[in-house]
Amino acid sequence: MLIKNARFVVTPKGIEKNKSIVIEDSIIDSITSSTADLDKTGDVIDGSGSIIMPGLINAHTHAAMTLFRGYGDDTPLHEWLEKKIFPVEEKLKPKDIYWGSLLAIIEMIKSGTTCFNDMYYFMSEVAKAVEKTGIRAVLSRGLMDTDGRGGERLKEAVSEMKEWSGKPRIEWMFGPHAIYTCSEDFLLRIKDLAEKYDRRIHIHLSETKKEVKDCLREHEKRPAEYLDDIGFLSDRVVAAHCCWLNNNEIKILSRNGVSVVYNPISNMKLASGIAPVFEMMKKKVQVCLGTDGAASNNNLDMFEEMKVASLLQKISIKDTTALKATDTIMLATLNGAKALGVNSGSIEEGKNADIILLDLKNPVLRPLHNKERIISDLVYSTPSLAVNTVIIDGKLIMQNKKILTIDEKEIYEKVEECARELFG
Ligand code: NI
Repeated sequence: MLIKNARFVVTPKGIEKNKSIVIEDSIIDSITSSTADLDKTGDVIDGSGSIIMPGLINAHTHAAMTLFRGYGDDTPLHEWLEKKIFPVEEKLKPKDIYWGSLLAIIEMIKSGTTCFNDMYYFMSEVAKAVEKTGIRAVLSRGLMDTDGRGGERLKEAVSEMKEWSGKPRIEWMFGPHAIYTCSEDFLLRIKDLAEKYDRRIHIHLSETKKEVKDCLREHEKRPAEYLDDIGFLSDRVVAAHCCWLNNNEIKILSRNGVSVVYNPISNMKLASGIAPVFEMMKKKVQVCLGTDGAASNNNLDMFEEMKVASLLQKISIKDTTALKATDTIMLATLNGAKALGVNSGSIEEGKNADIILLDLKNPVLRPLHNKERIISDLVYSTPSLAVNTVIIDGKLIMQNKKILTIDEKEIYEKVEECARELFG
C-alpha cells in the first residue's frame, strides 16, 4: 500500500511535509519524498488533503461497557457500582460482550484509535470482535479471588490466552482487578504466571482515596508501597489510574519501571481524583492514556481524552506549561505502545502500519499557515470528527468514514436487543 503525497506527517522527528509512506504487508517500509520509482501495484491512497499520524492507543478500557453508556449517571459512586453496574454485570452473557465490544470498536476506529488494552470477562468474545473488525488489542480477563473463585478465573484466563495465541493483532495480559479484590497470594500467583508465560499485567491501582485508606488500615502501607513490598511490581505492570500516589510511591513506580495509565475523564466523572502526571513524568515514570469504560466516561474518544488530559494537569498545578501538547500526544501514541509491548505508536520504518488520516477540510484544523501548530490542533481542538481513513496492520479498515470490515447497522440492531434484555 502507498499513501501518496501526504500533506503533513506526524513523525517522532516532528511534522514532515509532502511525504509518501510505503507499507509492505503489515509494516511501514519507508517514508520518502519521491514516489517516482515506487511500485504502485498495491492500493494507493491520496494523502494530499490529510494530516497523517499514528493511530491512537487506548491503554485502559472495558470495551463491552458501551452497553452501560449513560446508565445510572450522576449517582454517588458506591450506589452507582452496587445498585446499578454490578447487578447488570451479573446478567451479562457472552453475546452481550461480543456485541458491546463491537459497538466499542466501531467508536474507537471512527475516532482514530487503532489499538486498545481491555480488561473484562468472556474475553474470547472480545477476541472474536477484534478478529472480525481488524483492530489491534491487548486483552486480559479480569481476575479477583475475594469470592473464592480465583482459581477458576485464572484457569479460564490461561486457556483463553492459549486458545488465541499466535493470532494476528491480539496479545494477552494477566488482569488482576485491584488490590482490594485480589489477595496477596493470588497476586503473587498471577505474577509468577506472567513470568512463566512472558506476559504483562494490567491492574487498577490507587484509583480512589478509599482504596488508599483501606490499604493503610489493612497493611499499614499505601497501595504502591504494599505491592512493592510483596515483590509484585516490575516493568511488566501496567497500572491504571494512580490518582492517589505520594512522592515515595511515584519513586517506587519509577524504580520498578511500572507504566501508568492516566484516565482523566473517568477520574473526573467518578470524582476519584487527579493523577499526579506532571510529577510522575518528572520522575521518569512512563505514563500513557486511556478512556476507561464507557460507563464512566461516557465515550472512547482518545482525542477528547488528550485535550482533557492536558487541561486537567494545567489547572491542577496552576501551570500552563504542564503536560504540553507535544507530551500529551506521546501519551496517546508511543508511550501506550511501549506500555503494552506493541510495535506501533509512531510513523517510522519498521513499525506496524497503524496509521490514521485526518481530513484537512475541517474547520478545527485550520488555518494551516504554520506546521508547528499542528500538534496543538490535534490535542486542543479535538478533531476526532476529522478522522477519515484508518489503516491497521497495513490493511485499510476505514475509508472516507466507512468501516470496511463490518456491517454497522447489524451491530446497532444487536446492541439494542442486548440492551433491551439487560435493562428491560
Ligand atoms: Ni477501569
